[in-house]
Amino acid sequence: MTAPLMQLRGLTKRYGESVVFGDVDMDVHPGEFIAVVGESGVGKSTLLNCMAGLDTWDAGTVTHRGADLGAMDDKARAIWRRSHVGFVFQAFHVLPHLDVAQNVALPLMLLEHNDAARVRAMLQSVGLGEMGARLPQELSGGQLQRVAIARALVHKPPLLLADEPTGNLDPRPPRASWIC
Ligand SMILES: Nc1ncnc2c1ncn2[C@@H]1O[C@H](COP(=O)(O)OP(=O)(O)O)[C@@H](O)[C@H]1O
Ligand SMILES: [Mg+2]
Repeated sequence: MTAPLMQLRGLTKRYGESVVFGDVDMDVHPGEFIAVVGESGVGKSTLLNCMAGLDTWDAGTVTHRGADLGAMDDKARAIWRRSHVGFVFQAFHVLPHLDVAQNVALPLMLLEHNDAARVRAMLQSVGLGEMGARLPQELSGGQLQRVAIARALVHKPPLLLADEPTGNLDPRPPRASWIC
């Protein structure tokens, strides 16, 4: 098997005396699909946030191709995240004052790699080809979730982290085929 993209070793997260998770080991290989399953409150979102370097932990390490996320400062972690991670947040976190196309284009903008054709293709692939000029407030929950998915994939990140990404979606995908 190829070298892991990401490795968690002994990862532990506490809030005060309460342990959210302890001593978690995990390898994520390129192309691998991993589902983290458990009832609400067991720490799924917290784990994903740690893997994205959006949250801190109390013990253990998170490494990406050997680079230790815990050793980076906030700025280095943010720069790492821009090019390596796509994150679908459960609560979408779209920016309300940007239209749908601008929201999807954000990761490309941060990488100084504007690509309007790629943004259009992503919107098309999630069935929102006609809605690029709309504001988020004009979309349904399921449509917003698709905006969040398009935004997470637009820059072709090697690591896609998705926090309950299908809760608001229809059982069948939109007619246009999905692209990655
Ligand atoms: N800021 C916080 N302070 C204290 N406890 C928290 C905080 N954030 C989350 N928790 C607790 O951490 C646990 C894991 O939360 P979370 O990762 O959101 O679970 P899940 O995504 O599996 O539903 C929960 O029991 C929650 O109450
Ligand atoms: Mg959660």
